[in-house]
Amino acid sequence: MSESDKEKQKLYYPSPELATTARVKNMEEYKKIWKHSVEKPREFWAEEAKMVDFFTPYKEVWTGSTDDDFVGKWFTEGKLNVAYNCIDRWVEKGFGDEESLIWMGEDDTIKSYSFSQLKDEVSKAANALKSLGVKKGDRVCLWLPMISELAIIMLACARIGAIHSIVFGGFSAESVKDRIDDSECKVLVVADEVKRAGKAKPMKINLKGIIEQCPSIEHVAVVKVTGNPTYEYEKDVDFSALMATQSADCPCEPMDSEDVLFILYTSGTTGKPKGVVHTTGGYLVYGMSTNKYVWDYSCLLDLKGAEPKDRDVWYCTADIGWITGHTQIIYSPLALGAKTVMYEGTPTWPHKGRFWEICQKLGVTHFYTAPTAIRALMKYGAEEVNKWDLSKLKMLGTVGEVCNWPEWKWYWDVVGKGTGGEKPVGRPIVDSYWQTETGSYMMVNFGSITPMKPGSCTFPFFGCNPVLLNEEGEKINTPMTQAYFAYDMPWPGLMRTVWGDHDRFVSTYLTKFKNHYFTGDYAQIDEKGYYFILGRSDDVIKVSGHRLGSAEVEAAINSHDAVAESAVCPYPHSMKGSTIFAYVTLMSGVEGNEELKTDIVKHVRAMAGPAVKPEVIMFSDALPKTRSGKIMRRVLKAIALQGDIGNVMTLANPEVVQALVDERAKLGEIKF
Ligand code: PRX
Repeated sequence: MSESDKEKQKLYYPSPELATTARVKNMEEYKKIWKHSVEKPREFWAEEAKMVDFFTPYKEVWTGSTDDDFVGKWFTEGKLNVAYNCIDRWVEKGFGDEESLIWMGEDDTIKSYSFSQLKDEVSKAANALKSLGVKKGDRVCLWLPMISELAIIMLACARIGAIHSIVFGGFSAESVKDRIDDSECKVLVVADEVKRAGKAKPMKINLKGIIEQCPSIEHVAVVKVTGNPTYEYEKDVDFSALMATQSADCPCEPMDSEDVLFILYTSGTTGKPKGVVHTTGGYLVYGMSTNKYVWDYSCLLDLKGAEPKDRDVWYCTADIGWITGHTQIIYSPLALGAKTVMYEGTPTWPHKGRFWEICQKLGVTHFYTAPTAIRALMKYGAEEVNKWDLSKLKMLGTVGEVCNWPEWKWYWDVVGKGTGGEKPVGRPIVDSYWQTETGSYMMVNFGSITPMKPGSCTFPFFGCNPVLLNEEGEKINTPMTQAYFAYDMPWPGLMRTVWGDHDRFVSTYLTKFKNHYFTGDYAQIDEKGYYFILGRSDDVIKVSGHRLGSAEVEAAINSHDAVAESAVCPYPHSMKGSTIFAYVTLMSGVEGNEELKTDIVKHVRAMAGPAVKPEVIMFSDALPKTRSGKIMRRVLKAIALQGDIGNVMTLANPEVVQALVDERAKLGEIKF
């Protein structure tokens, strides 16, 4: 075994002082509570739900049956409001002047909102939405950059019971349209422009010719970021001006525990993104519970002996357009009464140490990012980190994909200041495994106490019971054996349905293995019970931790005039984890050349957004298909990697394989 292999397989320990103030003191206690949580979930979740203020108490913790109603209903008939729990209750308890959301702009502007100020801003935005006719249950689409208004308007929706559907700012206007149409949003909130790396970039103008085709939209609410003139539409409303004239008094709508809080679209195996539906009570309890135990930060719910003003500072670097931003920047930390940081810009502008500068400036104690960001930063070396005073940092974390050894080690050594030796000790790296669908973490180490193994998301969170299954649904107990990753019981934060398509929800997640939630991932367990995620078993590609459906990318490529057909597969990328390798069959008579490749890439970016970029395009006369016409992606992946192609007997057209292999050989070695 090489030195690095040995290091990789060691256990790494959190700094021991963290355990002295931890909410769960040690691994024995963790195991005991976990056992109780899966044996008596109703008792466990009833205890956790005490963190939430209900206007009307709930009747039952969970009603469902694993047979035909796997997810069931949580905290039935309880009435509550998420914005109330995130904001108003802290004001009512006398913490109105304490900091809540700390927003920092690219230009260094800091807007630190006290709970009272946040309440006023959110109420004004809520009244502004109401003045546009938005009522409880209406859908509001938010397509915004990481400006403070994004946080404020999402909380405003929660306040009045409107359902927000946030679309990542890096997606295209076409994707916004698809999402608006699917859930029939009444209002679209958009920024005039975006600030990116010191420049103003257009945003609203991209809607020209597209928003006119969204019949459900009654108003386009424009948030002024730069105030520069942009394309105007007859349904436009100056939302910044409208907000400024509103009263700061707006009651919180009592919502049923099972009322929808938000829809968030995510990629699936078909071209149409799925509207993942999260509801009010269960989502809130689950998000709070996971954050409280895993990170152990001091917050108004439990000050752990700190003065309110000296609470820990939580910084999650995700974009609010993803589930991580929803759960980990806004809802869970605010409901716990934490100080939560939101940053407008990118990690490398105006300089390569921007994240670390923010940590120093705002006194960040808990820092949560993605492996792709770590890979991007580690190439600039330790100097960029060491320039800054990170002495306040207590815990680090990652999400979105496997944190592989090189980036894990760098994070541990350089940011975590961890030791080496037989029993390495340092700032813990929380490896959190979860999905848009699951509301918050299902596998995760408890930062203060869990011994870590690089690349492993360790053990289940309370109330989650993971199982490894083979194709027949039988349990696999052999260590280091790849298996399907599923859960045999529900938890409160699990999605309830796919918006407008409950059958799709059932068939995607609950059918492959009866009485189980299937994640779509492969995983394995080692002899000590540590879980390792091995990647997707379906056609989802992860680029920079972002989830892209193959079918969606292919639809964007296919809409180019010169393209007859395409198929994409993941290809390794040193920064992004994976990138997109596209096989493209052209219309007859069209010649494939470099210029056309560039044009296809440009077209895809316009159709699907800048986050979607096929970095390799290979023209091919045909694609390998089964007799039923299904593209055999396994073969395409193998050809792209120049690996073993395996059995091609089931192909309807095995002869295309050799042609593709030859074509691939012409491209030579491709390294990103
Ligand atoms: O494949 C798993 C991977 O990301 C998928 C979920 O993606 P998304 O819904 O975009 O949510 C990402 C942020 C919550 C999973 O099915 N994934 C997520 N976290 C990890 C991970 N893979 C390995 N380790 C993780 N910690």
